[in-house]
Amino acid sequence: MINVIGLGYIGLPTALILAAHGNRVVGTDYSKSLVEQLNRGVITFEEEGLEYLLESAMKYDIVFTTEYQATDIYIIAVPTPYDKNSKKIDPSFIINAIQSVLQVCHEGAVVVIESTVSPGTIEKHIRPLTMHDGKDIHLCHAPERIIPGNMVYELQHNSRTVGADNCCIGEQVKNMYASFCKGEIVVTDIRTAEMTKVVENAFRDINIAYANELVKICRSDGLNVYEIIRIANMHPRVNILAPGPGVGGHCISVDPWFLVGDYPGLANIILAARNINDSMPEYVLDRIHSIMKERSFMDVSRIGLYGLTYKEDVDDVRESPTLQLLESMERHLSNGLKVYDPCVKKLIVKEQILDFNEFISEIDFLVIMIAHTHIKENFSKIKDKVILDTRYIVSGESVYYL
Ligand SMILES: NC(=O)c1ccc[n+]([C@@H]2O[C@H](COP(=O)([O-])OP(=O)(O)OC[C@H]3O[C@@H](n4cnc5c(N)ncnc54)[C@H](O)[C@@H]3O)[C@@H](O)[C@H]2O)c1
Repeated sequence: MINVIGLGYIGLPTALILAAHGNRVVGTDYSKSLVEQLNRGVITFEEEGLEYLLESAMKYDIVFTTEYQATDIYIIAVPTPYDKNSKKIDPSFIINAIQSVLQVCHEGAVVVIESTVSPGTIEKHIRPLTMHDGKDIHLCHAPERIIPGNMVYELQHNSRTVGADNCCIGEQVKNMYASFCKGEIVVTDIRTAEMTKVVENAFRDINIAYANELVKICRSDGLNVYEIIRIANMHPRVNILAPGPGVGGHCISVDPWFLVGDYPGLANIILAARNINDSMPEYVLDRIHSIMKERSFMDVSRIGLYGLTYKEDVDDVRESPTLQLLESMERHLSNGLKVYDPCVKKLIVKEQILDFNEFISEIDFLVIMIAHTHIKENFSKIKDKVILDTRYIVSGESVYYL
């Protein structure tokens, strides 16, 4: 039996896919309401294919509970935020989870940490707990790569990394993942697995930062960055990403900080990329301001931000550029922008309007922060607005870009 601890964006799909492929699974989360909802057969976040996966898993052997189980194998998928001052990982969630596992696990149990951690975290923060407890448990690290919006497909098709202390345990964990994963599963040591995951996310961050820096350079010189990127990408070995209003989510905007915090003075390009991407919401504000000046547009309350999530067609708002932009406005002692997101059904910020037609009727100047499919299907409703399109998805006389 596999006990999956933490049933959020990563733990829930993992628990479900394991169960749907014939493994006996108990999903544990300390949130009572989340567990109750899952036991009623209701999914806890929007994700294509997840509802179907829950139905399939429930036909097999899965239970959701707030209790930790006495068993031989655990998967831990709890949050790993970073400390905003030191930039280092805050390991408290994994430490708590491991302490609870140690109270119930069998001697010789395998504990797989899927949460993203900075290199050396397991040796520094987790191993001492297991040594102190005296239980002979095997620690492994199997970081997750799936992307919200395509999780179910990626769980089955991405390649994976398993970090273990020895090949035998590594192969055992690899076989567990191979029950549903068709991608290559590489077995390595724990520190390499830890480093690989944060390196991947820092790579993405740096590439996005490059596109965002180009936006600023080209804007300052009156050049069209999109045309320049289009032409540059015709080079067989160049692939510049699309610029945007910033980077959010629980991975790319967080994990590179682990490297900055742990390798001060060495992680220079990584730090620069983080700063560039974090500066983008403020840059969007500057663009809004200059467009307002150009069009003699005075009424901030008739400006609307479209999109609250950190990426298109998901409901995850963590660290999103729109939230960063609203925070930035607050710091400037200003507010009044309206906000709408079709994927966010609950009120998250006071500026939010839940109905699209009402939102559109209350604004004259629309800022597209996220390219949800919904906006692409509703272009006809926004064509008479002044638009700042940070995602380069609309065209027209009154459309501005980053
Ligand atoms: N979300 C992503 O796209 C993504 C992608 C790859 C990797 N990751 C990594 O996966 C890890 C989990 O992220 P997430 O997005 O699933 O987080 P999440 O916040 O969606 O879910 C975490 C869950 O863990 C539960 N929890 C926390 N501590 C617990 C404990 N001690 N016992 C039981 N339950 C506990 C919380 O109630 C919550 O439901 C993080 O390290 C993250 O960096 C996330």
